[in-house]
Amino acid sequence: MNSKSNPAAPQPERLLAWYDRHRRHMPWRCAPGQTPDAYHIWLSEIMLQQTTVATVRPYFDKFVKRWPHLEDFAASDLDDVLKMWAGLGYYARARNLHKCARIVMNKFGGNFPASQDQLLHLPGIGPYTSAAIMAIAFDRNAVVVDGNVERVIARIFAIEKPLPYSKPLLKKHAASLTPDTRPGDYAQAIMDLGATVCKPKAPQCPLCPWQSSCRAHHQGIQEKFPQKIKNPAKPRRHGTAFWLEREDGKILLRKRRPNGLLGAMMEIPSSPWIDRTQIAAAKNQPHTHAPAKANWQKQSCETVKHTFTHFHLEMTIWQARTGISAKLSEAADEERCSWVSINDLDNQALPTLMRKIINAAMNKP
Ligand code: ADE
Repeated sequence: MNSKSNPAAPQPERLLAWYDRHRRHMPWRCAPGQTPDAYHIWLSEIMLQQTTVATVRPYFDKFVKRWPHLEDFAASDLDDVLKMWAGLGYYARARNLHKCARIVMNKFGGNFPASQDQLLHLPGIGPYTSAAIMAIAFDRNAVVVDGNVERVIARIFAIEKPLPYSKPLLKKHAASLTPDTRPGDYAQAIMDLGATVCKPKAPQCPLCPWQSSCRAHHQGIQEKFPQKIKNPAKPRRHGTAFWLEREDGKILLRKRRPNGLLGAMMEIPSSPWIDRTQIAAAKNQPHTHAPAKANWQKQSCETVKHTFTHFHLEMTIWQARTGISAKLSEAADEERCSWVSINDLDNQALPTLMRKIINAAMNKP
């Protein structure tokens, strides 16, 4: 082969042989020859969206300990699910998980359908997850393409077109490699290859079973792929969190509205999050959104910073104390509020942003 010719197409068998030696151990993966539990595969795949295997592991373990079967999970309370999910982010996933479990119980008798079309109709299951369930739980040759697979394919075929425009082309190449034999193992193998060998930075090409078939490696430019268009800078929003402590040591919490960002999770009652252009107008009335009339003091510590998918957020904290018969303001929306003992805060469905605010309010590092 001269340096201009392209290497031969990669062989799925080589990747499968590599997987048989190097597969990662994960609590939802079963040993060779065993039948996977579709409930475990579905749960792990939803948890793994936007997150790493290391982060998901303890969440998966505590979920299956608490709800060993789909039937148990479908009978659970959404609030308990949100409490257990707290810290994993993207809370719509937890709400959809709960909805999906109930539909699978009621409509499919507790068994996930082995049909990608039917899976796609279930809440929270999109093209990636439906393909992953088909491949891993049912050993069907569905084309599974996540970020790791995109990187492997972009390098193997030296795809110059940048993401996200290259997605259809990457999928087409991925489909051309997906085998009819052991498609479930193949799907997991190519994801493992991307996660452990064909890494974004410093890929370990000498360890790769597909090294000799990789066009990017052949040209010595593997780290150039995948090409990506530059994402626009994220806007910055600002808000105020109101830490209200009652004389019996309880803190005012509020349940967020059921849908949207952090939907149905608990919060330290907060103002709407606004962008820079709206700040000047809001500055004159910092307490418009305060949950009670009180002697509000601005906390001198730095603002609490948190980044969501589409924006950065900076929260200022105001603190006050109040009596046992505190009257809440209209802005508090009393129906959604509850007084929670400081020692019980760890048991609430509080997202990471709110945990940061609590730590700052309590002057914890
Ligand atoms: N990432 C998401 N799902 C995965 C799986 N089943 N195996 C390896 N990496 C993954």
